[in-house]
This record gives sequence, C-alpha cells and structure tokens, in this order.
Amino acid sequence: MADQPVVLLGVTGGIAAYKAAELLRGLQKANMDVRVVMTKAATRFVGPMTFETLSTHAVRLDEISELTADSRITHIDDSQEADIMVIAPATANTIAKMANGIADNLLSSMYLAFAKTVVVAPAMNTNMWEHPATQRNVLLLRERGVFVVEPGAGELACGDYGSGRMANPDSIVAEVKLRLQVQRKRDLRGMRVLITAGGTREPIDAVRFIGNRSSGKMGFALARAAFDRGAHVDLIQANVDMPDVPGVRQVEASTAAKMHAQVMKRLPDIDILIMAAAVADYRVADGPAGGKVGKGKDEWCIDLAATTDILCDVAEHHKGQYLVGFAAEYGLEGVARARGKLERKKLDMIVFNDISRTDIGFDSDYNEVRILTKDSEVLLGRAQKETIAELILDNVAQAVRSRIGEGSLPA
Ligand code: CTP
Repeated sequence: MADQPVVLLGVTGGIAAYKAAELLRGLQKANMDVRVVMTKAATRFVGPMTFETLSTHAVRLDEISELTADSRITHIDDSQEADIMVIAPATANTIAKMANGIADNLLSSMYLAFAKTVVVAPAMNTNMWEHPATQRNVLLLRERGVFVVEPGAGELACGDYGSGRMANPDSIVAEVKLRLQVQRKRDLRGMRVLITAGGTREPIDAVRFIGNRSSGKMGFALARAAFDRGAHVDLIQANVDMPDVPGVRQVEASTAAKMHAQVMKRLPDIDILIMAAAVADYRVADGPAGGKVGKGKDEWCIDLAATTDILCDVAEHHKGQYLVGFAAEYGLEGVARARGKLERKKLDMIVFNDISRTDIGFDSDYNEVRILTKDSEVLLGRAQKETIAELILDNVAQAVRSRIGEGSLPA
C-alpha cells in the first residue's frame, strides 16, 4: 500500500449523496486519495463536477462505460489501484445487487471485481431499511466480509422519523481508517492462536439440551481478524450457525467436555488462547437419558453436575501462553466480578461485557466491552463485533509482543 492510500468512493442515488462530498473531504483530510464512481441515479442528486473538483480526478460514470465494452473493462481495472472501496450512500437497490452478484452498472461491476476491503454505509427510508429483504442482504454482505456502517436514526428526507439515515461522515471516515490500519497490521504474524466460539449444549435426552444464547459472532470475528494479522488460527466452535472463516482451521465441539478435550489437546502448541465461548457450567449428572423422555410425570427433576472449568485447567497446565477469558456479567457491578475471574482463573486478560444491555452482546452484531488486565482497564465503546475484535487483538498483540520481546517473535 502506498503512503497515501487510494479510496474508491462509490456514490449511489439517494438524497444522502450530497453528504458523500463531505465524506470525500473527510477522507482527504485523513490523507487519502479519493476516486469517485457514481451511478446514473446518483448524478441526479449531485453533479459529477462536484466530486471531480473535490477529488481532482475524473469521476467514473456509467455513460462512459456504455460507449464500448473495452472502456468498461479499463474502468474496472482502474479500481484495482484502490486499497479500499467505500460505498456511501448505498441504496437498498445497490445493496441488493451486491448481495446477489448483479453487475449491471459500473459501480456494481467494480464491486464484484474488487477483492480488497469494502465498507458500505446504507441510507434509505426506514421501511426499506427494516424490510426483511434488505436486512437479509446486509447480513449476507457482512457474512462475506463487507463492513457495514449502520445507518442512524433521525428525521429522514421523506419526513418519516426512524432508522435509515446515513451514518455521520466522521464515523464512516473512522471505519475506513481502522480498516486501512488493519490491512497494514501483521502483528500476530507466525503466532499460533486458539479461539473458542459459540455456546456448548449439554444433552438431557435425544432431543433436549441445556444451552445458552451465545451466537459465536464475537469468536468468529476474532478468528477472522487474527488470521488477517498473520496468525495461524484454530477455532473450536460450539453450535455456531455461520459460514466458515477462510484460512482458519475449524473443529466442532458441541459440549463442555468435548471443548475441554479439544483445548487441552492443542494447548502445548499454541501461543495465545482466547476463550470467547460460553461454556456450560453444569451437565446432566448421570449423562443424557436414552431416546426421548415422554411427559408421563408431573415433575421431572434432573440432577446436574459441574463441568470442568476449562480455563482453570489450562491455568494448571499452561507454559506461558497468553490467556484471555470473557466474562458476560449482568450490570456494571459485574466489572468487579470479572476482575475476580481474572485472578481466580489466572488469566492475562479478561474481556467484560454487560449482558443487562439489550443493544449489545448475545445475538447482536454489536458489542461494548471493557478489557481488564492485572493493572489496566480499557473501555471499548459500542461498535460492530468486527471492530471490537480488532481492538481486542490490538491489546493482545501489544501485550504478547512486549512479554516475549520483539526479537524472539516467530518469523
Ligand atoms: N469458562 C471455561 N470453562 C467453563 C466455564 C467457563 O473455560 N466450564 C470460561 C469461559 O469461556 C470464559 C470464562 O471462563 O472465558 C468466564 O466464563 P463465565 O461463564 O463468565 O464464568 P464462570 O467461571 O462460568 O463463572 P459464573 O458462571 O459464576 O459467572
């Protein structure tokens, strides 16, 4: 990547297109060279001359691409110079095309041909944003690695009040800066990282289990981010319904006992363990009943027995690996309980999140956490789980590097 990163800014046809000019200025102020591609609809809201003047580059338009097939290919090739693509505002229509691989204009063709990081800032009417089709498309894009800067709530151009308003240009600039920084980061290069994700399920009989609400999103985001930073990543997952993470070795461990066995098997060969999984504390004492238990009785008492605490066992057997735990606690007073777990489980770091909040945590794409170590506490404000994962890894990488000394890092 050159010193001045090149940003390909895609502008689509919504009233928020005028805010793309402010975004362009913000990206330039952050030392980025911005090239603009507009859809035909976008040019009805803002003239290409505005972007041409501000960016000092010719604006790519569909009109030119329609002249000859060759010029269209040239323009798609042009996009390869860019380090990152940002589509802001992104209409429901463009998002739908991206999710379905439709390349019927220059911008959507460029998106399909672009193999690097893509950031999208949706902007549309509330009903369009909340429509299951749009939500499904956004989810698909996220699963494929596109970073979505969520729209905010407020008064919309149509007079409605609700969500759908394009995120503030400053927060889009911040996301682009973070993504560019991450592209440059190789601070876990050669390190062997083991991550657990999801929630274990302890069977009661053939059809029932004791489970929890963990989705695995946080652990998956950590695995992907660690791989991007150059680590060899093993991911032990429990009941996660998400696509595989490219480059990461994944293994299923559906119960606490299976996860315990998988972690202990790998422990001697790793440098860092991140236990993001929600592991059941209890299992059925006598093991699951055979078949399906019928409802022949008024009461059904099940004796439970404690599972092995994986991190406590790791603490007994580890040889200097960096150990990170997670603590899902109810309410802010949980910080003290998380600190207690840090000490009791002899961890190097614990990541606390407050499960009393409904806008973050379980099932959500968002999180807000506090990172606790023996002598520090850092608050990471509410952000997408991918962003939180990067910030957690910043802290882990820094701590591991200072512990082992830069000189002895794996090549
Ligand atoms: N953990 C573990 N083995 C278990 C239970 C939890 O290794 N059997 C790990 C989790 O993966 C997490 C950390 O311990 O990283 C804290 O988990 P949490 O459920 O918050 O704490 P518990 O020790 O189970 O304590 P409590 O349920 O009393 O809050």
